[in-house]
Amino acid sequence: MEKALISPSILAADFLNLGRDIAALNRSDCDWIHVDVMDGHFVPEVSFGQPVIRAIKKIAEKPLDVHLMIENPLPAIESFVKAGADRLTFHLEAAEDPLAVIRKIHNCGLPAAMAIKPGTPVEEVEPFLSELDMVLIMTVEPGFGGQPILPETIDKIRRLSAKIREEGRNVLIEADGGIKFDNAGLLREAGLDVFVSGSCLFRGNPEENITEFIKRL
Ligand code: DX5
Ligand code: ZN
Repeated sequence: MEKALISPSILAADFLNLGRDIAALNRSDCDWIHVDVMDGHFVPEVSFGQPVIRAIKKIAEKPLDVHLMIENPLPAIESFVKAGADRLTFHLEAAEDPLAVIRKIHNCGLPAAMAIKPGTPVEEVEPFLSELDMVLIMTVEPGFGGQPILPETIDKIRRLSAKIREEGRNVLIEADGGIKFDNAGLLREAGLDVFVSGSCLFRGNPEENITEFIKRL
């Protein structure tokens, strides 16, 4: 199994001290920085967009793992690439033509990932596995940090991991939502490659929390 990757979600960062928190992630052992873009349509709240990504890009020393929780992502892909995304994840439920979105992301030179909400069967991503670099399994209903993990979503990771192995595909599995010290090991056993965590890692000292989180894997 690939090395486990940690992608702290800055939705849980201190927005009044974002530069300080990004600098802490730069110093930490995390692998990516997870950037939750929320449009107020696909999910209830609006978080931030291209201007904030441009600002973060100036100081970030880790790849920006941008999670688009936006309706109809296709026309926006290029602007997020230009803003500084290093990898882009869009929601299957938000795309009229998912294959067109994947190909657009690839044509812009970035890895492409497809996210599915808890209620979307994992089988729905299988037709796209040959085109994807990663699948994001939402382990909470998207739109808010600090929610408890939905246990029934863990089996989706197990099933997808088995399918990827069975087909011999080089596709990462990322999960996002309610991921904490006490469930990290269980998720790793289920086959998880990339761990998105917000409130757990940003409560207290992010560097220390990330070091501790890695020990749990
Ligand atoms: C929720 C976001 C998650 C969230 C994770 O819609 O996609 O990335 O910020 O935060 P925690 O780890 O607090 O659930
Ligand atoms: Zn996210």
